[in-house]
Amino acid sequence: MSDPLLRWRPEFPILGTCTYLVSHSLGAMPRSARTQAARFLDAWETRGVRAWSEGWWHISRETGDLLAPLLGVPDGSVTMVQNVSVAQSVLVSSLDFTAARRRIVVPQLDFPTNHYVFEGWRRHGAEVVYAESPDGVTHPLETWLPLIDERTALVCCSLVLFRNSSITDAAAVIARAHAVGARVVLDVYQATGTLPLDLTALGVDFAVGGSVKWLCGGPGAGYLYVRPDIAGTLQPAATGWAAHARPFAFETGPMVYADGEERFASGTPNVSAWTIAQAGYRIVNEIGVPAIRAKSLRQTRRILDHALDRGWRVRTPVDDARRGGTVTIDVPDSTRLAEALIARDVIIDHRPGAGIRMAPHFYTTDDEIDHALAVMDELTEQFTIQKSR
Ligand SMILES: Cc1ncc(COP(=O)(O)O)c(C=O)c1O
Repeated sequence: MSDPLLRWRPEFPILGTCTYLVSHSLGAMPRSARTQAARFLDAWETRGVRAWSEGWWHISRETGDLLAPLLGVPDGSVTMVQNVSVAQSVLVSSLDFTAARRRIVVPQLDFPTNHYVFEGWRRHGAEVVYAESPDGVTHPLETWLPLIDERTALVCCSLVLFRNSSITDAAAVIARAHAVGARVVLDVYQATGTLPLDLTALGVDFAVGGSVKWLCGGPGAGYLYVRPDIAGTLQPAATGWAAHARPFAFETGPMVYADGEERFASGTPNVSAWTIAQAGYRIVNEIGVPAIRAKSLRQTRRILDHALDRGWRVRTPVDDARRGGTVTIDVPDSTRLAEALIARDVIIDHRPGAGIRMAPHFYTTDDEIDHALAVMDELTEQFTIQKSR
C-alpha cells in the first residue's frame, strides 16, 4: 500500500536505528531541528545583542503562531512557556479562589503535574476536588460531571488521557462548566499533532500543552492558549517584565499588562528551545493533522486487532471516535516485557496500572508495527514458558 507520509522518514534519523513506537512520549527528532539550533547559535554568535530586536524578543509569538493552526485558534492567542506545569501555574495565578467559587475539579487520572500545581493553590483558598475513577483507567463523564457546580472556578481535564489514550468528551465538560459559570482548561498535550483540533469552535477557555510528543518539537516548549475574548480580563500573578505593555520603558511599580499573548509571558524568552521546536511544528503543519489522524487510526487498529486476537487486555478504546494515537496493552509482566522489548530495539514505554504503551506516528511503516508485535508474541510466549517451568 502506498503511503505518502512515509516520504518524511529520511527526515528523522532515529528511524533508521530502531523500531520507534514511542511518539506519545518523545517524538523523533527532525533533521531540521539541528538547522534551527544552528540558526539560534548563528544569531547569538554573529549578531550578539542585536538578535533581540532581530527576532528573539518576539520568538514566543512567532512560535505560538505556528501552533495556532494545529490548535484551531487565532494567531496571537498562544503564549510559549517552559512546560505544562508552568502554563497551569500562570493560568491558575490569574484566578481568584477567595470567594464562594473556589473549587478546581480535576479527574484523579489526569496527568499528575496538574494535580501538583492545583494542590499548591490550597494555601490561596482553592479547594481541589478529584473525580474518582471506578477502575483506575477510565473516568466516565457521568461520574464526574455532577461535581461541576456553582462552587467551581475551574475544571481541568486532558483531552486525551496519557494512560490509555481515551478521548474525553470535551464539549460535554465545557457545556456543563459554562452552564454553571466555571472555566475549563484542557490539557491537549496528548492530542496536539495527532488529533485535529478546533479549540475556537469548542469554546474552551484555556488550553495547555507541550512539544516533546506528537509535535516532535523537543523539550522546553510548552504553551498556553487563552480565549481571546477573556484574555484581557485576566491578570496573572505569576508574571514578569516580558508581560508588561512597555517592557523596554522599564517602568517601576505596579504591573501594566500587555494585550495579546504577551500578557501571559514572564521574563526572558527561551529562544533556543522555541526556535528548535518550530522544526517539528512546520512538518506537522505541512503534512496536516487530518492526514496524520487517518493514518494513526488505521495503524492503531492494526495493533488493536493483533492484541485482541491474542486475548491481551486492551486498555485503549477500540471505538475510533474515542481513541487517541496510542494503544495501551495490559499484558502480564508488562514492566519486564517493556524492558525486553527495548532491549530488542523496539522502543515503547510502560505506565503502572495501565500497561505497555505503543504509538505509531506519521513516519511509521506497517512493517515496523508487525515487527514490534512479532517480538511481543515471541517474548510473551517465552515468559509463559518460563512461568510454567
Ligand atoms: C497530558 C500530559 N500533561 C502534561 C505532561 C507533562 O507536563 P510538563 O510539560 O509540565 O512536563 C504530560 C507528559 O509528559 C502529559 O502527557
